[in-house]
Amino acid sequence: MGRGKYARPTRRPAVVTGASSGIGAATALALAAAGHPVALGARRVEKLDELAARIREEGGEVAVAPLDVTQAEPDRPDSVQAFGASVTAALGDIEVVVSNAGAVAPGTVHEVDSDRFARELDLNITGAHRLVREFVPAMVARRRGDVVFVSSDVAVRARPFMSSYAAGKWGLEGMAHAMQMELEGTGVRASIVRPGPTWSEMGSDWDVDEAAAVLNAWVRFGLARHGHFMKPQAIADAIATVVAAPRGVHINLVEVSPEAPIDDPAEDA
Ligand SMILES: NC(=O)c1ccc[n+]([C@@H]2O[C@H](COP(=O)([O-])OP(=O)(O)OC[C@H]3O[C@@H](n4cnc5c(N)ncnc54)[C@H](OP(=O)(O)O)[C@@H]3O)[C@@H](O)[C@H]2O)c1
Repeated sequence: MGRGKYARPTRRPAVVTGASSGIGAATALALAAAGHPVALGARRVEKLDELAARIREEGGEVAVAPLDVTQAEPDRPDSVQAFGASVTAALGDIEVVVSNAGAVAPGTVHEVDSDRFARELDLNITGAHRLVREFVPAMVARRRGDVVFVSSDVAVRARPFMSSYAAGKWGLEGMAHAMQMELEGTGVRASIVRPGPTWSEMGSDWDVDEAAAVLNAWVRFGLARHGHFMKPQAIADAIATVVAAPRGVHINLVEVSPEAPIDDPAEDA
């Protein structure tokens, strides 16, 4: 533990939601490698167990608990609260929360069923808020903590045919910006990491023809200037950097984009 009002323990347990694949899995590995005990949450517990085994083999400390950040049925036991109790019992006070769980489905605004639209907002915005409710009050009481919201470049450049996702990430960033002001002076840092296109399981459940139509629409609107995607590690590295910022520094927002393919001068000649 450091000294004075900037005191922070060296052991900083971290929650990662959506840790069963893609960016969340890479983030859990990156935080474990940086010395954080990590709590893995998602619905596919068997995937979390596989990742946990790998983290333990590499000498890390890890806990797994099932997590569904949505609340589709009002009378269902609260999954986020149960997750919070389980991982806090296993690892101790949670110092870092990476709100990463999310999903996107294709659709045209005026054709998408409003219930589906609402379910997607529930996952992408309210799901993040449920985590905030579960973990941030204790962080504020302790006068330290990091919350990282995984947003998307659609939050500032909406893409067609994924409107509730764009609305969700736009809303998520609105909530995060308000929170940054509300948390000022509490010692708790809320940050946004905003990825561009990244290889993951996202979109792998889409119909192939529908996916092709959506990608072509992106090109038509100038939203896919090149075809490069990042590896999830790129986003995990950004999240680890945000969390590792020393006391007295707050990395509010990081946008991470795939670098464009390098022009071949021979082709310009
Ligand atoms: N890939 C991209 O191009 C891209 C770009 C910008 C932003 N992002 C953002 O990055 C984040 C991670 O996505 P990804 O690309 O890594 O996709 P991914 O591989 O599909 O991972 C999504 C994760 O979210 C979890 N999840 C979904 N619904 C959940 C729920 N109700 N409760 C708990 N966990 C849930 C999934 O786990 P289970 O299915 O096991 O629950 C999975 O682990 C998302 O917020 C996404 O919006 C991705």
